[in-house]
Amino acid sequence: MRKAIIAGNWKMNKTPSETGAFVESLKPLVKDAKCDVVVCVPAVCIAEAVKASEGSNIKVGAQNVHFAASGAYTGEVSAAMLKDAGVEYVIVGHSERRQYFGETDETVNLRARAAFEGGLTPIICVGETKEQREKGYTETLLKYQTITALTGFSAEEVAKLVIAYEPVWAIGTGLTASDEQANEGVKIIRDAIRASFGDNAADSVRIQYGGSMNPSNVKGLMAQSEIDGGLIGGASLKAEDFSKVVNYGE
Ligand code: 13P
Repeated sequence: MRKAIIAGNWKMNKTPSETGAFVESLKPLVKDAKCDVVVCVPAVCIAEAVKASEGSNIKVGAQNVHFAASGAYTGEVSAAMLKDAGVEYVIVGHSERRQYFGETDETVNLRARAAFEGGLTPIICVGETKEQREKGYTETLLKYQTITALTGFSAEEVAKLVIAYEPVWAIGTGLTASDEQANEGVKIIRDAIRASFGDNAADSVRIQYGGSMNPSNVKGLMAQSEIDGGLIGGASLKAEDFSKVVNYGE
């Protein structure tokens, strides 16, 4: 059985001092969680998040990682830097990075490899735009994004990854995919992994849904057969709301 994983993606929100206070307030609310709990914070908030979460069940994630080990890449952060700072997870290929920062399927793959080799668990994001869905490209696109992102991974490695199915049209729009649409998207990804990496990888890899997931729709989404967790944007910014998503089974 796959253990569920609920991760908050704060995006460009909260200062370091707000981070410490937030994590302190979140700790008691999620201490009995049955799932893995992750907060993916801005790079400058990592130190505060790691310090405040010490000794708790909250893990800290970053929102991006560069693929080189070190060097002349102004503004970038390496996997070794994140690891040394106490980070365990890193979001790779979020649609906002693809849309605004020129991220491609190839660089997503390079970042995912660098993260994994650096001892971090990448949370690899894939998902179709509204236009792609309307044109009927969803399945082809999800398969392509997934398999390209996994280039160079072995089946044993894929088994340890986290993938997030985030339909772009459902992000920050309040428009959640229906339970069935979300489950179908996740199943396309899992089937693609099964075809390329075999049963163990497909049955072990954890695939989240992301896109306007919140306390009121989490139960329905998490009841779906293929969905192993959530990547939560807006609803992860308030401790109370995020804890309700984390404690979806209560
Ligand atoms: P929202 O939950 O705000 O729609 O954001 C989802 C997301 O992009 C998480 O990575």
